[in-house]
Amino acid sequence: MLATSIRPSSAIARLSSEGAFEVLARARVLEAQGREIIHLEIGEPDFDTPAHIKQAGIAGIESNATHYTPSAGIVPLRAAIANYASRFREIAPEFAPDEVVVSPGLKPLIWNVLCALIDPGDEVVFADPAYPAYASCTSYLQAKAVPVPLLERTGFRLDLDELAAKMSSRTKVLILNSPHNPTGGVLTRADLETIAELAMRYDVTVVSDEIYSRNVYGAEFFSIAALPGMRERTIVLDGFSKAYAMTGWRLGYGIMPAPIARAVALMGQNTYSCTTSFVQLAGIEALQGPDEPVQAMVDEFRKRRDTIVAGLNALPGVRCATPDGAFYVFPNISGITPDDRMLGSFFLEEAGVAALGGSYFGAAGRGYLRMSYATSFEHIGLALDRMRTALAKFPA
Ligand SMILES: Cc1ncc(COP(=O)(O)O)c(C=O)c1O
Repeated sequence: MLATSIRPSSAIARLSSEGAFEVLARARVLEAQGREIIHLEIGEPDFDTPAHIKQAGIAGIESNATHYTPSAGIVPLRAAIANYASRFREIAPEFAPDEVVVSPGLKPLIWNVLCALIDPGDEVVFADPAYPAYASCTSYLQAKAVPVPLLERTGFRLDLDELAAKMSSRTKVLILNSPHNPTGGVLTRADLETIAELAMRYDVTVVSDEIYSRNVYGAEFFSIAALPGMRERTIVLDGFSKAYAMTGWRLGYGIMPAPIARAVALMGQNTYSCTTSFVQLAGIEALQGPDEPVQAMVDEFRKRRDTIVAGLNALPGVRCATPDGAFYVFPNISGITPDDRMLGSFFLEEAGVAALGGSYFGAAGRGYLRMSYATSFEHIGLALDRMRTALAKFPA
């Protein structure tokens, strides 16, 4: 490695890395050594992007949609998003295109939204465990993260008493994520009504990460933005990665009051300039073309969820709740060891099964593993068999 005298900024030390990418890197090393690894660590659908969406992207390239676009996204896509998101969430009057900001994947938009809202010292409330970008960005911006635990016994919904105790006039932003990564928990309409009352009482902006809005199994998906008085204080985040199996295309969006949309688009202009032009055309097709492929993926995920939950509950020392959404299970492994990262790395090295320690998502994730079931039945079955065999060798 080349020695360097270049020193990184102190801000870099405030960033955290994502466990999924760390575990994936180790899994790749083992694969390079000839090991066959079952990947349950990364959160992406294993399905191909539906053909009609791919065709729209290809047609976009061929028609030379290969230039810069406005930072907030092309108007036809913003109009398609406004229309789809209003219908899907039953929000009237319909969102307007100037309330929509398009981005290269949802993750950069999480950053740009938080950058547009938060000053140093502000309090930002979000669940523990949670998607790691929330904590990383909060820390980068020198704001104060206020974690609220999720309750395994309620299917990993927020502890609303704890939330009420932790929100105050110091709270600037409340980040929600339902369906939830890493637990698969889904907040009920009644939960969201209580949360909305708190947000209004303390004049808090709600950032609602709804990227798994299409991935629900029996439970109702409901957006807090649809509640009276909430549209004007909610930023809805969603995207194409999870619903349409488009993780590598990089396409996400946010919906928010127009003045904030302009601030967020300005952040985008200062960082990525715009989202890939032909990818935006593929996004229009995803929203306006046939929806059956999405439904087929969801049906398949539901069956896989049932298989992996049953298999995990049959393992000694493991207790696994049935999640209502996303495509993750969050088994409690404290009957084996409280050290989730150690058990995760034991399964990887010993069984060739890559799973994530729950503590990668926050302190309250200790004693749990996160496993993605966005993989084939065959791999799920094999992973469960290998874990059972490996557990017999786990040091007491
Ligand atoms: C809760 C949550 N929000 C946002 C994202 C980012 O999605 P994208 O791939 O569109 O950047 C993910 C991806 O795993 C996620 O789980």
